[in-house]
Amino acid sequence: MDTARIEEVVGDFVSLRKSGANYMGLCPFHDEKTPSFSVSPAKGIFKCFSCGKGGNVVHFVKEHEQISYSEALKWLAKRYHIEVVEKELSEEEIQRNNDRESMFIVNEFARDYFVENLHNSIEGKSIGLQYFQGQRHLREDIVRKFQLGYCSEQRDAFSLKALQSGYQKDMLLKTGLSIETANHSLFDRYRGRVIFPVHTISGKVVAFGGRILKKDDKLAKYVNSPESEIYSKSAELYGLYFAKKSITKENCCYLVEGYLDVISMHQAGIENVVASSGTSLTHGQIRQIHRFSENITVLYDGDGAGIKAALRGINLLLEDGMNVKVVLLPEGEDPDSYAQTHSASELKEYIRQNECDFIRFKTNILLKDSANDPIARARIIQDIIESISLIPNDIIRSEYIKACSHQLQTREELLLKEVSKKRYELAERNRQKRNYEKHQQELGAQQPPSYTNPEAEAPVSEDLLRAMTQAPDQEQKPVSQPKKQGRDPLEAYEKNLLKMVVRYGERVLYQDEETCISVLQFIKSELEDDQIVFRHPVYRDMMQEAYEQLEDEEFIPERYFLRHHRNDFSMIAAELITERYELSKIYRSDVQDENSTASSTNFTQKVEKEEDLLFEIVPRFIMELKYRILREKITEAMEQIKQSERKGNSEALLQWMKEYRNLRELEKAFAKELGERIISR
Ligand code: CTP
Ligand code: MN
Repeated sequence: MDTARIEEVVGDFVSLRKSGANYMGLCPFHDEKTPSFSVSPAKGIFKCFSCGKGGNVVHFVKEHEQISYSEALKWLAKRYHIEVVEKELSEEEIQRNNDRESMFIVNEFARDYFVENLHNSIEGKSIGLQYFQGQRHLREDIVRKFQLGYCSEQRDAFSLKALQSGYQKDMLLKTGLSIETANHSLFDRYRGRVIFPVHTISGKVVAFGGRILKKDDKLAKYVNSPESEIYSKSAELYGLYFAKKSITKENCCYLVEGYLDVISMHQAGIENVVASSGTSLTHGQIRQIHRFSENITVLYDGDGAGIKAALRGINLLLEDGMNVKVVLLPEGEDPDSYAQTHSASELKEYIRQNECDFIRFKTNILLKDSANDPIARARIIQDIIESISLIPNDIIRSEYIKACSHQLQTREELLLKEVSKKRYELAERNRQKRNYEKHQQELGAQQPPSYTNPEAEAPVSEDLLRAMTQAPDQEQKPVSQPKKQGRDPLEAYEKNLLKMVVRYGERVLYQDEETCISVLQFIKSELEDDQIVFRHPVYRDMMQEAYEQLEDEEFIPERYFLRHHRNDFSMIAAELITERYELSKIYRSDVQDENSTASSTNFTQKVEKEEDLLFEIVPRFIMELKYRILREKITEAMEQIKQSERKGNSEALLQWMKEYRNLRELEKAFAKELGERIISR
């Protein structure tokens, strides 16, 4: 935990920009166009103000890679070259046989097998390597880098090897590496093909593409892994793992069509390039790019199919808030062939000279066929208006309207009016869609995993507003976990106290010549006086652990719990700490924003002083908890009185009446201390 720097680890996946003491970026856990994902290096935590996800560095890896807590720790250990010595297999590791994990392991085995085959077998060298190096002119280091491989022509060479090595048939079928025949024998999906492994953003092998070597009309040029638990073709981008660093550095991403386009451009020295692998672009793919840059340049063949593909992708990109440029290569060339015959600087120069924004691209293409036909012109304008109205950012949108008005010699007001009409329609459609989805959810239907942003029409300012106004709400609701039914009414009050312990446990609350009482000591003695133990099992365990370290002078609860080996401890600690952290961020933005609402201003002012008001807040939280417990006891006593009456048990009745009166007296005292507010709540 000391070694893993959260900004570094998050930075592997998200492009972060410094903002004060923290970093901001686009949240990797949901679709967004304006950054609300914040990382605090000082505290070692992350928090998304929009979707609420937060935690320490291990939680981030766990969540992002969809692995278990202990696997996330190992992931980090590997990232920082820390050796992990294992004593015995944990339950989780035994559970490893769970499907997803096993599928990745089988894929890894297959990748190594195909690579080995390409470089070291006679058939691999003479056919596969000969193809890559002789025909496609790829350098050895590039072939190695992309882990290209070869699968032998023998129909089941790989399957047999895998079974021999102890891999389960089931997993070979699930990953699609092997195919089962009617008589239950296996054969290799990629036999006689060169292999392109497809990597996840973090470099795990999620799928393969196998290219045929000879022209054969009966066989598909490419055979790909089937869709599976780990692979959805439309969500992956080929090459992103190798491109992500360069995309951040160049702040731009090239989008091409095929495996070899990516690889040849790398070989030419251009590394910020990914491929959509022949399918039309999806929101899921765009989202992956958007995390690293919002500038994308679509680089397609200059033929009809390339143009069509480029046109299709544009609206989707605009809708997701990307700045889109298009480059068409000379007819008959694709990025692969162009990169092979030109130097990197020639390719870059070509891109620079031929890059054009989408309006110019669309206008040029569309006008070509219908230069002087007014109706065709109107249709073109309509088409472009449709694209412009998808752009979420107001400023960029109006820039495009200006450009369009200029290029198409059309009045700006007219375009403005048309665009706002379109946007209204869009918003309406989205609203209906949302209502429908909500309705479906209420009916209990499971929402399918969705990569599309249901709020695609929301202008940036609204996103921002939402991000800004959400945090105080979360604070007022004591617990921001998903609402469980029948939650213990004491939980929120216990949480308040635990929050004080985690945040300020070591701080001095009272001090005079003889004594010095810390927040933790004070809470402990106050609760022990009344024999109060938390009812929430995890809160109770955390309190207990804090108590046990009271004597330790170096015990800093925040540090201690944020790095705790228990996942639930560190998660709760992060949640308790980010609440404050969120608010101070709000405070900072409020300073510049005069339009902030009165209530949020009040709120943040109160919070700014939280640390200075501990002597007020801590006793108050204790009182509130005690008061709630007292209320429960009163209800209980009333219940007992009723029961005793019913049963005619006069001894018990008297006993309970006495208890009840005592409790009522106590309640009055509390009421006075706590004031009207708490009573009326
Ligand atoms: N593709 C695919 N399945 C197919 C055809 C194509 O998955 N049956 C994907 C591959 O990722 C391929 C991309 O679409 O790289 C582009 O297809 P194409 O232009 O036909 O192939 P190239 O990449 O140009 O391959 P090559 O240069 O080797 O012909
Ligand atoms: Mn090609």
